[in-house]
Amino acid sequence: MKSHTSDSVTEAALLQMRTTADERLRVVVESAVRHLHAFAKEVNLTPAEWLKAIEFLTRVGHTCTATRQEFILLSDVLGLSTLVNSLHDATAIEEGTSTSLLGPFFREDAPQLPLGAQISNRDKSEEILVWGTVRSTAGAAVPNAKLMVWQTSSTGAYDLQEGTGDAIDYRGEFRTDMEGRFHLRTVRPLGYYIPMDGPVGDLIRAQRREGCRPAHIHFLISAPGFRELVTALYFRDRYLARDVVFGVSPTLVVTEKASDAEAPVQGLPSVHFDFTMSRAGSTDPVGGRVGADPAKLVGQ
Ligand code: BEZ
Ligand code: FE
Repeated sequence: MKSHTSDSVTEAALLQMRTTADERLRVVVESAVRHLHAFAKEVNLTPAEWLKAIEFLTRVGHTCTATRQEFILLSDVLGLSTLVNSLHDATAIEEGTSTSLLGPFFREDAPQLPLGAQISNRDKSEEILVWGTVRSTAGAAVPNAKLMVWQTSSTGAYDLQEGTGDAIDYRGEFRTDMEGRFHLRTVRPLGYYIPMDGPVGDLIRAQRREGCRPAHIHFLISAPGFRELVTALYFRDRYLARDVVFGVSPTLVVTEKASDAEAPVQGLPSVHFDFTMSRAGSTDPVGGRVGADPAKLVGQ
């Protein structure tokens, strides 16, 4: 038996994995091995660097809790989440509203609220109104669509970051009316820094990146027969062109109006956006969310 060299070990590893029972698992892991080996060769990876990477990933794992997902954050700042999101978008049978990242702060357990409700409990800063309609690509209203909405406070923190335990804030679940319309009150979210006190923050600093996200409101919209829409509306702030997780599309940038005669509630600054949902395709992949409630990913 000969010992392996940098030329022979890749093929030997791939050969041993040919027995993988699940075909998709075989294809994915084989490709990952090929690319990992090519990467190690390209940078001539040293043992010290290899160990540093293991140590880094170990810290990423230890930083994950029921309220924090450092692995998703790592995927986000590497652009991988946006890439996976784009690959998923390309499988849609028609083009609806642009998608955006789910991010690491989504929670499944937001309260169900009536249209027009205020989603901010603790933050009593100036209210804004967010309103619009959910339609199909053919322009038909989508009644009773479920809209899950979440955002930061006006100081740029999600409830999960405020140290208030499980208390839910700046989130809500709404249903569109019979004409596909929705409206809700909230506070103006603020652009913010991603969590910088963990290993991902260390990486961002080492790269001399800013680690900021423009102010935005997340939406997860679903209705029977339609492809789930994961998106966000972005406000024009100084971070818009410098998003550290590559989540902004020009079509998702909104303009706030001080007053709008068309808005369903008068006397509030408002943001109007109409969402368009693609029909579900018979071959749609299961699960289109690039992200998850962090509580669902620990202790399973
Ligand atoms: C967010 O949208 O909340 C988010 C997305 C990716 C990384 C950090 C935050
Ligand atoms: Fe966010």
